[in-house]
Amino acid sequence: MERITTVRALQQRADAERLAGRRIALVPTMGALHAGHLALVDEARRRAQFVVVSIFVNPAQFNSTTDLAAYPRPLEADLAACVARGVDAVFLPTADELYPTGYQTWVEVTELAKPLCGASRPGHFRGVATVVAKLLVAAKPHFAVFGAKDFQQLALIRRLTRDLGLDVEIVGHETVRERDGLAMSSRNVHLTSETRVQALALSRALGAAQRAIDAGERSRTALEARVASEIARSPLAKIDYAELRDPESLALAPERLTTDTLLALAVFFPKAGGDVVRLIDNAVLHVPKEN
Ligand code: PAF
Repeated sequence: MERITTVRALQQRADAERLAGRRIALVPTMGALHAGHLALVDEARRRAQFVVVSIFVNPAQFNSTTDLAAYPRPLEADLAACVARGVDAVFLPTADELYPTGYQTWVEVTELAKPLCGASRPGHFRGVATVVAKLLVAAKPHFAVFGAKDFQQLALIRRLTRDLGLDVEIVGHETVRERDGLAMSSRNVHLTSETRVQALALSRALGAAQRAIDAGERSRTALEARVASEIARSPLAKIDYAELRDPESLALAPERLTTDTLLALAVFFPKAGGDVVRLIDNAVLHVPKEN
């Protein structure tokens, strides 16, 4: 497996692959790879002969220096996981390589970045959009694969590539879950045995909302209350947001649901040492058409 550290070297590698008629797939990550990331790698492999995984903890998308410092960085284990999965190249840029002195160009997706994680993490999506644009320019992939757990991020990246006319297909991959339903996340390492159990509140709430719809509930307010009460069954959980929104525009859903609707959740749990870990999860709830 090749290790590439500069944009120039990755571009030259990509040019050679393209010249040889090989298809390139990029899996952008911040490392701390888990089975969810490896499913993205497998998806990349199904589509391309040259699979690149980027591992870069992007400072521009963190709005707290403690969160950035606490982000797990198990590089050797990540590299071993990539080798085992048959990754062709890992891109490991330094922060200086992507944001050299004098750097001043930012990519902003305006509307889709406003609600949900954009509201609670100001500047986060500007950092995501910018680094993803830079990674696409560096790796020149035919495909870039992202997990659907970060639903808003995926929507925003699709918009960004359409708006900028980037010649890449964005592939979304369904959320990979632990056996008991917890969505896989690099942040799960911060859960204690107690909060690990309580973190099931998120997937439980998604299931409860779908069941309520299946039983005939269509009121947004009633469904949001149902979700809040399900999450309250985990007493250490504190809701950041729990909202029903349009899956395309991310606009707030109407009071009476008539079409498939996104339920997006972000919930805080206490971390050892007094800090908090924030977990997200989501599902597009199926709302049967009315006759
Ligand atoms: O989803 C992530 O891990 C990050 O936001 C991404 C897409 C790699 C950009 O840093």
